Amino acid sequence: MLKPNENYAKLQDSYLFYHIAQKTKAYLDAHPEQRLLRLGIGDVSQPLCPAVIDALHAAVDDQASAATFHGYLPECGAPFFREAAAKHYAARGVELSPDEVFASYGASDELGDILDLFDRGSTALILEPAYPAYVDANVMAGHPIVHLPAGKENGFLPLPNAGTKADLIYLCSPNNPTGAVFSKEQLQQWVDFANQMGAVILFDAAYEAYIEDDALPHSIFELRGARTCAIEINSLSKTAGFTGTRLGYTVIPKELERGGMNLNAMWVRNRTTKTNGVSYLLQKGGAAVFTDEGQAQIKAQIALYKRNATTLTKALDDCGIRYCGGKNAPYIWLQCPKGLSSWEFFDLLLTKAQIVGTPGAGFGACGEGYFRFSCFGSPADTAEAAKRLRELLK
Ligand code: MLT
Repeated sequence: MLKPNENYAKLQDSYLFYHIAQKTKAYLDAHPEQRLLRLGIGDVSQPLCPAVIDALHAAVDDQASAATFHGYLPECGAPFFREAAAKHYAARGVELSPDEVFASYGASDELGDILDLFDRGSTALILEPAYPAYVDANVMAGHPIVHLPAGKENGFLPLPNAGTKADLIYLCSPNNPTGAVFSKEQLQQWVDFANQMGAVILFDAAYEAYIEDDALPHSIFELRGARTCAIEINSLSKTAGFTGTRLGYTVIPKELERGGMNLNAMWVRNRTTKTNGVSYLLQKGGAAVFTDEGQAQIKAQIALYKRNATTLTKALDDCGIRYCGGKNAPYIWLQCPKGLSSWEFFDLLLTKAQIVGTPGAGFGACGEGYFRFSCFGSPADTAEAAKRLRELLK
């Protein structure tokens, strides 16, 4: 008799952002006259920048003519995309060979798929609060999970200690949801720890483009020894507005080996079997992000989202609410007022101010009592949300 993957029975009933979408829809169905302001899931509001749009149009035209048409592309990524991404790293002093960069359909897909490389008995260490897909992907795959709580006392940046044990270590910096960013010294401690333990760090760098403090690391490969212990998973979703377009990239150094097996070669084996690569159109659009023109345009968008962060933090200051994030990250992590639980505050904001946010408890138990605002809305909606927050909480 066929047995399903019984690990699914250990998952929570529904995924955090799906649950929020259902709750929000139910409210809107009952109150169709209301205008909701969405500061929940980190979904961008600004269109793709002109350099990307031009590249996408040109790629469509390529596909219209036999002379320039592309069928299957190399499964691990088109050379032009891998080279453009490697050049982008080189500009920050990180030397990569293009065949260490793998094109993907986005970081969330990749964070789960990459688990194919590891034995099912490998323990995943998850620093919480954390992006909930880390936990869910490991539950589905049957990996044991160890939680390392983060809180105010460690600036939401926990470090390894003598008792820490793990095979896979999930790090996200700038962090989703807290906005905290590891310094080079702190990240070096994780790299040294992983090398000593023979663990592998899965470094989620989806928010690196939001770093404005020059001293902070954008990539784990800026750290000594990272090439023997880390995989970096990146995405153009938050960097360049690709949430609905989909494109990311994963870096697996050729020195990364465990148990005598080479993880870069294993991922080539995996991708060549399990995928037919990423669409030519998307990789052309993605490569345009790494041009000088593309970089200037996405920086202007990131600056707009940062201004949204300031709009919101000013309102929180006026209401006497404590928060962190919003400076080197597009998320603001705040303490729920009046001792409310995360979901009580969610309901209050939804029903009294028609603002949708994300309850901190959705990112793990130690997120209880906290709440997350995304800064990816339009400036007009963000300003309106700030006004409604003042009216409700001041
Ligand atoms: C978030 O809101 O945490 C992210 O946007 C979700 C995601 O990237 O899948």
